[in-house]
Order: sequence, then structure tokens, then C-alpha cells
Amino acid sequence: MWAERLERAATDAAAFQGTGRMTSQHSSTANARTRNAKLLAWIGGMAALCKPDSIHWCDGSQAEYDRLCDGMVRGGTLIRLNPSMRPGSYLARSDAGDVARVEDRTFICSRNRDDAGPSNNWTDPDEMRRTLEGLFDGCMRGRTMYICPFSMGPLGSPIAHIGVQITDSAYAAVNMRIMTRMGDAVLDVLGDDGDFVPCLHSVGAPLAPGETDVPWPCNETKYIVHFPEERAIWSFGSGYGGNALLGKKCFALRIASAMARDEGWLAEHMLILGVESPEGEKTYVAAAFPSACGKTNLAMLIPPEGFDGWKVTTVGDDIAWVKPGGDGRMRAINPEAGYFGVAPGTSMDSNPNAMRMLRRNCIFTNVALTDDGDVWWEGMDGAPPSHAIDWQGNDWTPGCGRLAAHPNSRFTAPASECPSLDPDWEDPDGVPISAFVFGSRLSRTFPLVYQSFDWSHGVYLAATMGSEATAAAVGQAAIRRDPMAMLPFCGYNMADYWRHWLEMENRVPEPPLIFRVNWFRKDGNGKFIWPGFGENMRVLKWIVDRVHGRAPAAESPFGLMPRHEDINWTGLGFPRETFLDLTSVDRAAGLAEAEDQRELFDRFDGHLPTALEQQREHLIERLDRAPEMWRMEG
Ligand code: OXD
Ligand code: MN
Repeated sequence: MWAERLERAATDAAAFQGTGRMTSQHSSTANARTRNAKLLAWIGGMAALCKPDSIHWCDGSQAEYDRLCDGMVRGGTLIRLNPSMRPGSYLARSDAGDVARVEDRTFICSRNRDDAGPSNNWTDPDEMRRTLEGLFDGCMRGRTMYICPFSMGPLGSPIAHIGVQITDSAYAAVNMRIMTRMGDAVLDVLGDDGDFVPCLHSVGAPLAPGETDVPWPCNETKYIVHFPEERAIWSFGSGYGGNALLGKKCFALRIASAMARDEGWLAEHMLILGVESPEGEKTYVAAAFPSACGKTNLAMLIPPEGFDGWKVTTVGDDIAWVKPGGDGRMRAINPEAGYFGVAPGTSMDSNPNAMRMLRRNCIFTNVALTDDGDVWWEGMDGAPPSHAIDWQGNDWTPGCGRLAAHPNSRFTAPASECPSLDPDWEDPDGVPISAFVFGSRLSRTFPLVYQSFDWSHGVYLAATMGSEATAAAVGQAAIRRDPMAMLPFCGYNMADYWRHWLEMENRVPEPPLIFRVNWFRKDGNGKFIWPGFGENMRVLKWIVDRVHGRAPAAESPFGLMPRHEDINWTGLGFPRETFLDLTSVDRAAGLAEAEDQRELFDRFDGHLPTALEQQREHLIERLDRAPEMWRMEG
């Protein structure tokens, strides 16, 4: 067994509130690396409940990471990749039934159902606790319980918060070391009486004496449960991604959004990037997009031709914690320390910085293995390999009719490997945010970019965002609303979250500007009008110019838009007519959109802030006054 510091569970923690069944169990926390009473009591209680064979306190060192990975290579969970091609890197293949976040098994167990709201699964917390205690009882038999203290955000930053994950998955432990600041240093910051978010995780696959383990243990029964009032997380049955790396979606979004509501800040599903001009002017932008809309690509963008001397730097690619700063601005940190990105589609074309980042020290999950011991996925540069082993461990050849990599296959990469990493990404005070950008995937109606008229209008633009889901019958696409890209991640009633957003304007004298973008509008032939990827820099530059009061804007019924001449087109040659198409507003489509939004608002009856309904009505009024097809002058 690779775990070195084996300990027996604490008995003196029988006092753990909630289980009520702790009796004298095996030994103590003698070798525990902390004297924090809450932590020791919780660990003791959970050990008594889960009944692991041993306990390992993760110190977070490289040596420990290497030992855990070696053990997983021996046990078949990890495959070491060819060290001359991907040094320090591994491939994991999950169980075929454990490949993604499970939203239908994700619960927000607030005391009142209304506080979870209509967009979350809810169960009474006492009832859920009983269910979970049954499931977790003895769930770690035959396994090691790893204790991973972690900080979301730079250690000791006033914007950061501490969590402790208990897990029986060594795979989760090593991924947590990449994705968070994990280990002994966190216990030092926690001290004897610091607070933390308890995150309990089990793959739910106890081992009988002598039973051999499988490479990817998990359980068909899955529960991803959040108790927002207690600020606690219990996750059972899955070893994959956000189900198992509890610092990410569970803590940094669902629990943190509830903390942020109570404490006056924002926990958002946003990348953070810096735009640096040739003169060294730095402007930070935080941008929310639903999953699979290219957030990692945007966060690591390389400016195209025509932007000599401009640079985009990466603070984060998925989550932003934003707090009012002492300087009167909103300041943001990336609570994570790594990137858990979707592999397919990542290439030197779409994201050269990511490809360079993935050269070493990564864990890949569910991608294909090439015959020379490297990884491959659909959309990678160059010709596909003539033979590979697919994500399920089977032989694969091009044209065999199956995907080599699972569409949700992932890389886990340390931020320190990212070539575009912002030099201030670990500033404990965060970086000042000048603009919030909200985008989604919409093939029609929605222009390339527009700025809100004011803060309330911006919150309305964010609250009503959504992407197209193809309707079964007709070719028309219906919009699946995904407010602020937070639909699966808001830990409380979404309409209360909108109210919180509306109130945030008053917490700083200089709130960021708010923009909507849409890279995905199509022409009459079904082709994307906008080239996207690095060319999105042209839109970012206009946003930055607006922030600094340098660019004019045209007033459309949807919001304030750039004119063709306000955008730097050097190296692209984007015809004025095409730009006018891309920014046009079809009155009938706009009115249908406003009507459709009513359905969203109706779902939150009783909680909906009136300001948002007023904004919807203002949109209708502006459209009523607009020509049938609004086009930019000139
Ligand atoms: C993610 C997601 O994995 O949003 O970041 O699904
Ligand atoms: Mn995400």
C-alpha cells in the first residue's frame, strides 16, 4: 500500500453532530497534522462512519504525489505516458458509466425548498442526511481515507476560503493537488480555530477482505449533495470531475454562491483574463459562458495579426470569486490552481497555449492512448494515428465508427504550466475587474457584442442568457436558459441570486461594465458568420476601449454596439456588409425572444426582482419603436 502515514480513526470525535451513532472505534488523531478541534472532530466522525482501513493526511508534497501516482500505476488506475513525449503525465480511464457531472443527482438541501428554487433538485436536509448516512456507513471498508486540506485561492488571501476534502480515491487526491493549493501549508493557515468547508467524498465501493480492486471504482447510485446553511458537501458514487474534485463546482460555485450572498460578494462561473496594450495598460475582464463554449480558449487567447504588442494573460479559465476591494473596484481571484479542461477540440489551431501547457505534468482522463505511449483526441492537430487504444481500453482505428476519446474527456493541468499565466494571478487582493462579459451559443437573433445601458440592464442580459437546444420536431432551436451560465451551479434560488447581482452595483463606486457576446451567429446557409477563436481579440479590444472611454457606440434595441469602424480589422478583412448582418436586430425575433423570457421569469414568481421584468418591458418598447430589421447606420 502506498499510503504511508496510516492512522486509526478518532474515537473522541463520537460527538460528531448528526451521525448519532459514533461509539468507541479505533484509535485516534495522534499523528494528525492539526489541532483544529472542528477538523479533528469531523475527521473522527467521518472515519467512524465510513470505516476506512487507514487514514492518510495529504501533505501536498511532490514526493507524496509521485508515490500516489506510482501506486495507481501499479493498481491499474493510471497509465504512465511515454516520459520522453509527456514527462510526468498519466492517463486514467474511467468506468463507462462515470464520465461526467450528474446534474440530475445533484441536490441543494436548504432547510426551505423555496431557498433552493425551481431550478435545483431539493430534498429535506434531515431526510437527505439519513439517506447519506446509510450510504456512507462502511463505504470506505478496505480502502484508505485521504484527508486533503485545500485553499480555494492564494493561501491566506482575504478573498480565499479553506476546504478539507475527505476522499477514498487516490485519483481525486492527486487531481485535487493540481486543482487547488493542497496540503500542510493550508493547515498552517487554518490554525487551531479557523473555519473550513467540510467536503466528504466516497466512490462508494467498499472492498471485502481479499477482494481485488478495479481500476475505476464507483457506484451506480450517485449523490452530489450540498447543505448551504451548514456549508457542507457530501458526494457519493462517482470519481469523475466535478462530482469528485469537490473544490470546483461543489464548493467554489454552489456553496460559495450561498456564502457570497450572505457576505456581499460574487462566486461566478467565469474565466478571468487580462488584456495588455503595447503601452502596458492592463485591463481585466471576467467572462461567463456555459460549459463547452470555449472558455479555456478565450482565457488563453493569442492575439491575431493586427495586434502587435498586445497580450492576453490568463488568471483563470472557469471560476471567479469577486469581492469589493478597498480601492473601490471589484477584485477577483481564480480560486483554482489548475485547469480541468475538455480535451477534444483542443489543438494548436484552437488553443496553442493549452497545447503547450499540456506537454508535461498533466493527468488525462478518457482520452485515447497512442502506440508510442502518448495521448490523442478528436480535433488534435495532424492526421489521426493509424491505431490507438480508445478511452474504454479497446483497439481503435480511424473509420472504426467510434470516438477514440470520450467527448467529455479531460486534462488536469497545473496553472504553473500555462504559458499565458498572468503575473498577478496569485495576488492575494485579486485583480481589478473592469468588465463582465456574458456569452452563449445562439445561431440567430443575437448580435456579436453589445454593452448594457446600465447595471440593471446588464444583470437582465445575464439573467436571460441561454443556448440553443434543438427541438425534436422542427428544425427550429429553442433556447435553454442558463442565467449567468450558473444554472447547474447556483446554490440557492436563482431569482434571489439575480437580486443579489442587482444589489452588488451599490457595493463599489466603480462597478464593471457589462457586455453580452455571441460568437455563434449563423448566416442563411447555416455557416458561422464570425471566425471566433483568436479573432475574438477584436471584440475584446472594443470592450477594453469602452472601459477606458475611448470607443463610441451605436444604440441598438438590444444595447450599445460597436460600429464597423470601431473595430480593428487589420489582418482579417471583415466586410462592412457582413458586419452589419452580424449586428442586425430582427424586430420580430427580438419580440419573440422577449416573450420567451417571460416563461423563465414566470418560473420564479414571488422571487423575481421587479427590475428584471421592467427591463424586459423596456426591451419590448425599444423593439416596438425599431424598424423591422434594425441595422447599424453607415
Ligand atoms: C466544467 C463545466 O467542467 O462547466 O467546467 O462543466
Ligand atoms: Mn465550467
